Amino acid sequence: MLMLSTRRTSPPRARRALGAGLAGLLALTGVTALAGTADAATTLASAAAAKGRYFGTAVAANHLGEAQYVSTLNTEFDSVTPENEMKWDAVEATRNSFNFSAADRIVSHAQSRGMKVRGHTLVWHSQLPSWVGGLSATDLRSAMNNHINQVMGHYKGKIHSWDVVNEAFQDGSSGARRSSPFQDKLGNGFIEEAFRTARAADPAAKLCYNDYNTDGINAKSNAVYNMVKDFKARGVPIDCVGFQSHFNSASPVPSDYQANLQRFADLGVEVQITELDIEGSGTSQATSYGNVVKACLAVTRCTGITVWGITDKYSWRASGTPLLFDSNYNKKPAYTAVLSALGGSSGGGDGGGSAACTATYAKAEEWSDRFNGRVTITAGTSAISTWSVTVTLTPPQKISTTWNGTPSWDSSGTVMTMKPNGNGSLAAGASTSFGFTVMKNGTSTPPVIGACTAS
Ligand code: XIL
Repeated sequence: MLMLSTRRTSPPRARRALGAGLAGLLALTGVTALAGTADAATTLASAAAAKGRYFGTAVAANHLGEAQYVSTLNTEFDSVTPENEMKWDAVEATRNSFNFSAADRIVSHAQSRGMKVRGHTLVWHSQLPSWVGGLSATDLRSAMNNHINQVMGHYKGKIHSWDVVNEAFQDGSSGARRSSPFQDKLGNGFIEEAFRTARAADPAAKLCYNDYNTDGINAKSNAVYNMVKDFKARGVPIDCVGFQSHFNSASPVPSDYQANLQRFADLGVEVQITELDIEGSGTSQATSYGNVVKACLAVTRCTGITVWGITDKYSWRASGTPLLFDSNYNKKPAYTAVLSALGGSSGGGDGGGSAACTATYAKAEEWSDRFNGRVTITAGTSAISTWSVTVTLTPPQKISTTWNGTPSWDSSGTVMTMKPNGNGSLAAGASTSFGFTVMKNGTSTPPVIGACTAS
């Protein structure tokens, strides 16, 4: 238990692994709750892991060069969903010519960090290239199966759950299927066929049906429920149902959200919250987020939550500020509500102090072959006695000099851990900074600054 108090000086991944490992150990020994003296988890992923869940986010490949985006991703999340990069128009814009480059960047980032990947999505009426709509039924069937086989084959063994079919039902009271090339030419059976093809293509991936406006008990979710029930009865392979959970004032978190998740879980499938975002701000947004998390935790088969983006800055509905981090990557009240609903805590929950710091990066001078970077360390609301932060380069970049800190290096020379030069004490709110010169060796990508840890 005491080992947990090392959290402030461990890097985020190690902390997370420790949390997961401890949870496993506790499960083995039959201990079900953490002792009161244990530190609460301090990130979304580690708090969720302590509850046996993953906590994911949608990721866009074009932001992976932004230091704050990546450091928030790496610190807080242990699962990613490519926001657009695995969609049909992204991977197969031309028939049978596949381009996986953007999606591969997300998958390799996730794999290098030990994060899970949700595959999104194989068969969907939207973001579908127009050539698909022009095919005859016979041709469309083979194009659909080929698409599933090629995409799932490319990522075989790397995807935790696939959204095999997305949004196949109509909104409103009809309970009918939505018109699409697949529905109109292949009929209801296209969904079953897609799932059967998917099972064979990657037997290790969980196969999900994913939709929106199915979050409460209503005509649309009833129709999906009946389909899943039928699939389970007839042995059509399906493992999970994804609830997108895009909410706003016109479509708030339904009061029967948990009951709806539970009735699907009772059919013998996992339920996953796959695209959570809630427009709003302040306490009301925070309360809604907390309620969603509590509902998932109350349903044993609710295995994870994915928010649809990291920061409001890049949300697909940015004007509604629906995410957990604001556009400057500050944690919003919604973040605190989610962390606390997961049983975590941002401040020293064990009375052992609340040493904390933040690290911000700024590029300084730049030359053709090198640039200088400066990281400013700022103590939180309590004084700190020391701090530590990682600086991760993009190979083959190298750091040639540093100042105002004591560096150490990983074996690859890519990750520098910087600690104070001598006395690292900072008063509450006080700052210090260190600097370094990066030799570009052909790449000017800014370094990724890890979370600042303090004690
Ligand atoms: C959205 C993306 O966030 C946008 O960037 C894109 O322009 C449109 O699609 N349901 C889904 C997601 O299943 O794929 C959608 O993502 C949001 C609604």
